[in-house]
Amino acid sequence: MISKNMEKALNEQIALEGYASFLYLSMASWCDSQGLAGCAQFMHRQSAEERQHMLRIFNYLSEVDGFALTPAIKQPPHEFKSVQAMFEMVYQHEQKVTASINELLSKCHENKDHSTHLFLQWYVQEQREEESLMRNIMDRIRLIGDGPQSLYYIDKEISAVNAAQVKAEAAEGPGEEM
Ligand code: FEO
Repeated sequence: MISKNMEKALNEQIALEGYASFLYLSMASWCDSQGLAGCAQFMHRQSAEERQHMLRIFNYLSEVDGFALTPAIKQPPHEFKSVQAMFEMVYQHEQKVTASINELLSKCHENKDHSTHLFLQWYVQEQREEESLMRNIMDRIRLIGDGPQSLYYIDKEISAVNAAQVKAEAAEGPGEEM
């Protein structure tokens, strides 16, 4: 059975993952409104992924006799200065999530909760991959530059990144939380 302390911390992580899902959904809507279909697809997939991150903790809490709380999600921003600014915001949010996972791991040590520590290893790897992906995207955007056709090429590039992610996920097979 999980301690109340750890249960509370994991419920906070559920809220953070849930917010990420809504933030990326909001970004998908903005991309659509700007005619950036490739970026919109990318953000829809990221949003769905974050929902799975949330559910994975949700299910874990049930498994260890804790109580998973459905979080109240605050309204995410729905206007972005540019596609560059939007990806910068994604990267910052991912860094915040990574810091939160690291905090959770420290709490596991304090509470001698080896089970949750083991469970969270998946998130450690996931965050490393997410941060690397976002840095890669920001590098590509920088390389394309801000010439007259840049948005067209950025959208094409993000569409290709999205297709590669879909292919990689299909190769990995369904996650254990499905
Ligand atoms: Fe689940 Fe991308 O943080």
